Amino acid sequence: MGEEGEKELRLGVNIDHVATVRNARGSSYPDPVRAAKLAEEAGADGITAHLREDRRHISDRDIERLVEVLEVPLNFEMAPTEEMQAIALRHRPHAVCIVPERRQELTTEGGLDVKRDENRLAGFIAPLRDAGCRVSIFIAADRAQIDAAHKIGAAVIELHTGAYCDAFHEGRTQDAEEELGRLREMAAYAHGLGLEVHAGHGITYDTVQQIAAFPEIRELNIGHFLIGEAIFVGLAEAIGRMRALMDTAREG
Ligand code: PXP
Repeated sequence: MGEEGEKELRLGVNIDHVATVRNARGSSYPDPVRAAKLAEEAGADGITAHLREDRRHISDRDIERLVEVLEVPLNFEMAPTEEMQAIALRHRPHAVCIVPERRQELTTEGGLDVKRDENRLAGFIAPLRDAGCRVSIFIAADRAQIDAAHKIGAAVIELHTGAYCDAFHEGRTQDAEEELGRLREMAAYAHGLGLEVHAGHGITYDTVQQIAAFPEIRELNIGHFLIGEAIFVGLAEAIGRMRALMDTAREG
């Protein structure tokens, strides 16, 4: 891939929390699919939606509609369960991102323990790959997890940036530096193995540039902050500003 290709950094917009607001009232609005189309118009390179086991935000019908109307690729986030595998195989989204899921958690708290579950996950992702989905595994910036993701045949890893973003926003400077160093080193390591490297979780205007600056990272998936910011400035403006920050970081 030439220099231009290496510099490309896609922005995936996660629209889960539009559905969270809708579901808070059990109404039909705000509509996450409308948000997805707006995001697309505003320059999102992809849309991410996580169908959780408890359906707390995105619904099965949302996924069906996204598959029908999106022009940009859909990144379908899901836990490694049989139910989700069947749904993914029915829709065959462009990408499937396998994430851990615990019912009590507020959000996806950590990466998947691929190392512990290597054999099962290898069997789990094989039919998804055969169906033409690009399989991504959401993991911590940890060498053993990257090796395991590579071994089971994932095309992509998404590095969990939550630890870095939390440390940054809580003013834990030393921890933030260490976490960022780990992300930098592991992005390069995974890239060296031939994996495509994505990153996401907890990213804001204040943290995006430090992560976007790593040349091995090809995609950022950002949700909660963008949807929150959209309340104040609108989704298109929030996405436009995030995109501009990513571009500036990449040029630097
Ligand atoms: N990437 C993955 C794999 C996620 O699970 C999430 C959260 O659903 C995100 C990215 C986006 O995180 P946030 O909503 O904190 O921006």
